[in-house]
Amino acid sequence: MRTQVAIIGAGPSGLLLGQLLYKAGVDAVILERQSGDYVLSRIRAGVLEQVTTDLLDEAGVGARMHAEGLAHTGFDMLFQETRHRIDLHTLTGGKQVMVYGQTEVTRDLMAARQAAGLTTVYEARNVSVHDFDGAQPYVLYEKDGQQHRLDCDFIAGCDGFHGVCRASVPAGAITEFEKVYPFGWLGLLADTPPVHHELIYANSRRGFALCSQRSATRSRYYLQVPLTDKAEAWSDDAFWQELRLRLDPEAREILVTGPSLEKSIAPLRSFVTEPMRFGRMFLAGDAAHIVPPTGAKGLNLAATDVKYLSTAFIEFYLERSSAGIDHYSQRCLQRIWKGERFSWWFTSLMHQFPGEGAIGYKLQEAELAYLVQSQAASTVLAENYVGLPL
Ligand code: APR
Ligand code: PHB
Repeated sequence: MRTQVAIIGAGPSGLLLGQLLYKAGVDAVILERQSGDYVLSRIRAGVLEQVTTDLLDEAGVGARMHAEGLAHTGFDMLFQETRHRIDLHTLTGGKQVMVYGQTEVTRDLMAARQAAGLTTVYEARNVSVHDFDGAQPYVLYEKDGQQHRLDCDFIAGCDGFHGVCRASVPAGAITEFEKVYPFGWLGLLADTPPVHHELIYANSRRGFALCSQRSATRSRYYLQVPLTDKAEAWSDDAFWQELRLRLDPEAREILVTGPSLEKSIAPLRSFVTEPMRFGRMFLAGDAAHIVPPTGAKGLNLAATDVKYLSTAFIEFYLERSSAGIDHYSQRCLQRIWKGERFSWWFTSLMHQFPGEGAIGYKLQEAELAYLVQSQAASTVLAENYVGLPL
């Protein structure tokens, strides 16, 4: 088989890239290790910046998001039992975010790809990438016990943090920056009405908590937990009880609990790979960088990589220009490091760090008070939360 762009991974990055290339008439094949159902079973953050919603529109997959997504013009910061609203709309000159689950974004992209009759090979095993240093790269994979070869002009590594593309780069050609946080997030999804119509980010002495949502009838909550905790060991009752303890009296009172649809623990990590281009292979999304989820930047950074990468490929094929390809890594990394910085800062501000002691908490309280009292400080938070300009 031959294609112009071989995309490894059918997560949101790979699917969005495939869709944008298809719209421009560039040919791509996607190879995905898992089944489609497995990909759709992964639950991740759900806050989209305007840059991301614009891109989904450009890809022609924004209709359901506009119909069912929830536009949020602010969120609450909770500390010392009191909530303070960060008015995104006022602080950023009219910007907002869209609350729409990443699973739904993936579902819409999968449906569009299928409707267009484009090739996605699910359950492609033992994918390996070859000769991306030269002019004729190719990819080998197994499907139903048979070996296949996909020849291509370019390889797009959209295969997430544990993917094969980054792992195939010689050690001397890549630099990795990493910070692993000493706690995880225990997430719970439930068919209960959200405790508040906007998100609540809570700094409590018992640990961070987040009240998020998927719809008017479906809630998503998170608790900071020690890395040694196991999701199975947390009963639903224990989760709800701990969440209540981390909320303010009003939210505690009106919180509606119910059986969990899903409960899992995710570790928190800051990670960046430099560069993101290796000859004719390009990394995008989680394959190249991870942020802790506190600012919900993961999918948004992935989407901007894909915007730059699709533009670069389209320029190459339609205008015979390599400029976008040559600048890809640098353009992405400038934006990624700003997203990394914000996600690290917001994580540091909102969580309890083992060993920091009483002074750590006092310093956080002082910063939180400053943040909500100073318009300058609130503006810094708001403009990063809604997303920096491209
Ligand atoms: N061969 C083929 N496919 C692979 C391989 C492989 N060797 N390794 C991984 N994959 C697939 C995974 O099964 C997954 O479906 O690549 C896909 C990568 O998808 P994601 O991990 O969702 O990464 P990405 O598409 O970049 O999405 C970024 O995900 O984690 C969130 O916060 C992050 O929202 C951001 C988004
Ligand atoms: C979510 O809804 O899953 C979510 C929302 C905001 C975040 C992280 C996760 O910062």
